Amino acid sequence: MTAFRPFDEKGTPIEEQAMSWKELVTVPYDKKAVDPHTRTRVILMNGIENNATLTKHAIARLCPKPEVKKALAITRRVDSMQQQAVNWMNPAQQTITETTLGFEQVAFDLTANLAQNEEDAYQKATLDFALLEDFDHLYRYAFLYQQLEGGDASKFLKDTIDIKEGRPTRVHHRHPSDEMRRSWDKNTASPKTKMNYFTIVSAEQQTELFYKSHGQMYEDELARGLYTEIADVEEQHVTLYESLGDGSMTPLEMNFLMEVNEAYNYWSCAQTESDPRFRQFWEEMMRDEIGHVRSAMDLLQRFENKDPEKVLGGDRIEVPIVFEETKGYVNRVLEEQRGLQPYNMEYMPEHKVPKDWPSFAYRDRLNGRWTPSEVVVSASGGRGKERVKVQARQR
Ligand SMILES: [Fe+2]
Ligand SMILES: [Fe+2]
Ligand SMILES: [Fe+2]
Ligand SMILES: [Fe+2]
Repeated sequence: MTAFRPFDEKGTPIEEQAMSWKELVTVPYDKKAVDPHTRTRVILMNGIENNATLTKHAIARLCPKPEVKKALAITRRVDSMQQQAVNWMNPAQQTITETTLGFEQVAFDLTANLAQNEEDAYQKATLDFALLEDFDHLYRYAFLYQQLEGGDASKFLKDTIDIKEGRPTRVHHRHPSDEMRRSWDKNTASPKTKMNYFTIVSAEQQTELFYKSHGQMYEDELARGLYTEIADVEEQHVTLYESLGDGSMTPLEMNFLMEVNEAYNYWSCAQTESDPRFRQFWEEMMRDEIGHVRSAMDLLQRFENKDPEKVLGGDRIEVPIVFEETKGYVNRVLEEQRGLQPYNMEYMPEHKVPKDWPSFAYRDRLNGRWTPSEVVVSASGGRGKERVKVQARQR
């Protein structure tokens, strides 16, 4: 596949980008007929847009320059509209638990794809590390889906993934100080490393926000508990991933890189989309983003006298982000890395972690006498995907 060249793409002028209510209220996909990877693209792009909107608000709040605030408001309004148009593609017929299965599929299929295309060994190790945790979340939610709705998660996701235990959720709960990581350097990191960073932070942040805004909608105490527990892990994931970013990026550099990443993600979606209606939408959104990239380049040049190509670290991103089956890769990582934990910003088997690791006491305190991620499995009377399937059939 060809590389993405943001400086060569044709964009839509910003004044043509506002959408009518009719355009914003998009037609949802059918949860049964949809290609599971179209669903994951919708879930991911909603997160990408929400992060763009929220980050630009944060930048504007810390910025004293009216001209910059105004330029941010103009592109942010479109990002906010894009977010609604994308999110409204999720159908009402899809239950919260089913959307949750989609979120976790995004989390590890995306992470597996980014990890396989990440040249920086430390960034890759971090992606592989957290991958196994989201993999386990899906396993736990699959039990909940079976218990609450009699659903079969494998069937719902059309067997595009293996559903089995990863690194168990009960040991994901670490002290916040153990979520710090070494960051990449903005002067030497590749464009792809920078894009991977913005993509994964956006996706994990959206997962956290979704669990926190939907977990309370369940009456069932175990469901409320499971969402609480896993939402807290997603907060950790946002923390560890955002610590990979170079904190010396200026707000306008961040704004520019984030716009390039939005465009790059839509471009990737369009390259791989199986549904023509969605492909057309992704292409349209990509052209909008190129308009935002131009605006961000203008701010960089005017206020910081910086060359956008240098800020990106090149003029292209070599490979698209692809949603595809990652069973082989995930199984390999699972075999090799299931027992790892972070200590002093490095990964090691938990049995080698020194006794003074702050996370030991911290996770005992959180798990206390009730760990919903364990109960949801034991309440089903067994472990493993086969058992989930058998029980689903018996209902
Ligand atoms: Fe956007
Ligand atoms: Fe997760
Ligand atoms: Fe996560
Ligand atoms: Fe944008």
